This record gives sequence, structure tokens and C-alpha cells, in this order.
Amino acid sequence: MSSTTKPQREVFVSRSAFIFAAIGSAVGLGNIWRFPYVTYDNGGGAFIIPYLVALLTAGIPLLFFYYAMGHRSRGSAPLAYRMVHKTAEPIGWFATGIAIVIGIYYAAIMAWAGSYMIFSLNEAWGDDAEGFFFGDYLKMGDPGISLDFVPAVLIPVIIVWVLVLGILLLGVQKGIARFSKIFIPLLIVLFLALVVRSLFLPGAAEGLNALFTPDFGALTDPAVWIAAYGQIFFSLSIAFGIMITYASYLKRKTNLTGAGLVVGFSNSAFEILAGIGIFAALGFMATAQGSEVADVATDGIGLAFVGFPTLISEMPGGPIFGFVFFACLVFAGLTSMISIVQVPIQALREKFRVGNKASTIFVGGGMAVISILLMPTITGLYALDTMDAWANNIGIVGSAVLAIVSVGWLLRKLPMFGRHLNAVSSFKLGITWMILISITGVVLIYMLITQIITFITDGYEGYPGLITGTFGWGMIGVLIVAAIVLSLVRWPKTTLAEMDSAIADSVANENAAKPTTTTGTAATGTTGTTTAGTTTNENKGV
Ligand code: ALA
Repeated sequence: MSSTTKPQREVFVSRSAFIFAAIGSAVGLGNIWRFPYVTYDNGGGAFIIPYLVALLTAGIPLLFFYYAMGHRSRGSAPLAYRMVHKTAEPIGWFATGIAIVIGIYYAAIMAWAGSYMIFSLNEAWGDDAEGFFFGDYLKMGDPGISLDFVPAVLIPVIIVWVLVLGILLLGVQKGIARFSKIFIPLLIVLFLALVVRSLFLPGAAEGLNALFTPDFGALTDPAVWIAAYGQIFFSLSIAFGIMITYASYLKRKTNLTGAGLVVGFSNSAFEILAGIGIFAALGFMATAQGSEVADVATDGIGLAFVGFPTLISEMPGGPIFGFVFFACLVFAGLTSMISIVQVPIQALREKFRVGNKASTIFVGGGMAVISILLMPTITGLYALDTMDAWANNIGIVGSAVLAIVSVGWLLRKLPMFGRHLNAVSSFKLGITWMILISITGVVLIYMLITQIITFITDGYEGYPGLITGTFGWGMIGVLIVAAIVLSLVRWPKTTLAEMDSAIADSVANENAAKPTTTTGTAATGTTGTTTAGTTTNENKGV
């Protein structure tokens, strides 16, 4: 590879560093409190079927797709889309914007988990975990906009941001990779201990029965399938720029699809383990209270911060169990949070040619300020809940739809990415992979339209229009406008030169891998045009 300017990119020193970072990003709050509740609410054991279908047909194929985008361009989301075509750049900024929104509220959930580590030690919630969480701790009022501060939440939110930005200031290898290598094994050991403990509680079997007794009728409900796709996307950290960004730090010859399989299956294994552990514990609680598991299994936030504290009060050794459970949430959340915040940091570095420190302080600091001003307020929980619903159901799904429609269908770049993946990977992709992505596109368009109609006609959770208009529709509107405006800003010549150099390097790699069939593929970043070479008989894999 030849380049007149030394690329400003950092790299993961090894494939294992990348795998730890990618697993760290994937395994997060979504696995520990979201998955068990979503599973239970969507048909229990039968949900595993749409979940696995979504994982195998959409999650893993799209994971490969986003790896290819990041690796081929060695760029953040906006640059990776810019590589494909000038007009596609706003999709990259939109995905980056979704990461910003998720980061702003993700910090608050981690902050609550941090507080609850301490609260567990003396069971601070007394005998009213629900009243304590919503009233004493969050000081929730009526849904409306009030920016009165809640100091008990403010302090842990500040601590979370200091930790996250501190790690990110250390850079990709010394910060992200090193901390993921520490926290992920720690998380696995602690969480396994929790699961084993839960399985030995009296009544654990009741919980597992509730989780895994299939309600096959649920499979005919489109909402169950929508929930499965939503869970897979959030959980795998796809469609909001993370996997593009992380793959851009990989060395030129890295087994991308092999890494994707490891990451995808590890994430789901952890997720199912979390479901088993949490429902075994809920089975114990239901048995102790003489009630049904259905009565103690509440929704996401409630499950972790209301259901679990109640359970901690009832079990022998509860304070330690609670401390470790909330520590697991914090550790899992931290490695995901750093990946989320890194998305805009890298995008800014490339577009405005600033260093890691400046970019982290400016963009990470900006996110921290919004998060610190908004989340620990009386309105915080409503804002969080609304931002989460719109970011996931409209933002992430919309970003994936735009990617498939533009890159896959209109610009027809899937063969180019397939060639790129196959040139460096052990697990080869072929026509099946492209078909799966296209089918996913159709499914996602259906999901997106259904969701938009539901939000317009039914609103969300009965919240006033001011809340959903500001933190839901308003937020999406701001992201779209910002994405277009940022795309109008010219790229620095050095960034485009680096991208061209990365692409030339990739093309050489691709051609070397298939010398007999490829007559040339080139993409020029500076003009935004791409010439796909003639290829025959190239994709013999899946
Ligand atoms: N993938 C991350 C999670 O599951 C965002 O929490």
C-alpha cells in the first residue's frame, strides 16, 4: 500500500483484540435486562424460533455486510457510505446520529445500575422496590417536560461519562481493546456464578418453565417477529455505525466472516444464558410469594430495577447477589457504551481532521453534557423511554432499510462486498448471503411501515404529544436534517486520499484472491463513482 500521508487511523493489534471489543459492544444492557423480558412477552420458548431466524437470516448476514463496509473503506459510517456513493453519505450520518441518541440514554441506565450496586448492600428499597425506584430514586412526576434535577441520579451519570470518556481518550487499542479484554472475561465469570446460584434456588424450574414453555400461537403474530428482529439488531450493535467503525480498525488481512460468526454466536449464547439465569431467579421469587412467574416478570426497566430488588430482599445472600448482578450490568454496559460513543468520535476525526483527544472531548463531551442535563431530571425517564422506542424501532430499522435499499438494491454493491469478505475470510459467502440481505430488506420495510403507523395512530405508552413529538419524532427529524447538512460539508482531501488508498489496497487484495475471474474493480472515493468489474463464478460460498 502506498500513501503520501500517513493514515490517522488506529488499529486493533490482533484479531482477538477486535473480537473482544466486538463482543464487548454486543453484550450489553440489551442482553441482560432486555432479552429475558422480550422473550417472555413474545411467546416464551416459541420466541426462540423467530429470534434464531432473525439471527441467522438478518443479524449475521448484516454483521458481515457492515464489517465489509468498514474494512473496505477503513472509515467510519459516513466515510464508508461515501465510499459507496456520494449520495449515500447521509445514511452514515443518520446511523451515527442514532448512536449519539442511544449513548445519551444508555449512560442513564448504567448510572442506575451503578447506584443499585450500592443500594443492594443494605437493600435500600425497603419493602417497596417499585415506590423506591420511581418515587424516591427517580422522583418521577407526571409525564411532561420539567428539567428539575434529581441529584441522586446526576452524580452516577457524571461518573459514567467520566469513565467512558477516560477509556476513549486512551484510544482504540489501549482503551477500547484493553478494557474489553478485562471486562468481558470478568463479566462472564461473574455472570456464570449468578446463573449457577439462580439455578439452585427453590422454584428455579418454575421460572425456566415459564421462559421456555412455547406459545406457538405467538408465531403467527407479526409483532413477535418485529420484536425478534429489533432485539437482534440492538443486541448485535448493528445499523448504528458500531461494526463499521470497529471493522475499520482491522488490519488488511483479517478473517472477517470467521470473526462475525464468533461474535454473533457468543452474543446469543450470553443472551440465552441471561434469560435462563434471570427466569430461574424469578421462578424462585414467584414460588416464595405464592404467585405466578407472569405476575413477577415485568417489563425491561421494571424487571431489573423493581423485580430484581424485590427478589434480592427475599433470597438468602441477597445483598451480594444484587451487588454482583448490578456490577454485571455496569460491566456489560460499559464495553457497549464505549463502542457507541466511538462511532461519532471517529466520524468527526475523519470529517474535520481532528485528533482523538479533541474529537473525544468535543463530541463525547457534547453527548455527556446533553445526557447530564437531560437524564437526571423529572422528565428523564419519559425522555429515555421515548428515545429508546424511536431510536430502535424507527432509527435502527430505518438505517438498515436505507442501507439495503441504497447499497444493495439501487447501487448493487453486494457482490463487491462479498468479494471483499471472501478475499480475507475463511467462511465464504455467495448468492445465499445476498438473497438473505434482500429478504431482510423486505421484512424490515414491512416492520418500519407497521411501526410508523402504530406510533402515529396509537402514540406510545399514553405519553403526551409533547414528549413523543420532542424525543421521538422531533429527534428523528433533527437527525435527518443534521445528516443532510453534514453530508454537504466537504471532506478533507487527506481523508479522501486515505480512503482511496484503503480501497486500492482492498481491490488488490480482492484481485489477488480471485485472479482467474476478476477483471478489475475500482472505486474512487474522490469522485464517488464506482466501477464494478466483471466477475464470474466468484461466489461459491453460502
Ligand atoms: N449491543 C448493545 C446491547 O445489547 C448495545 O446493549
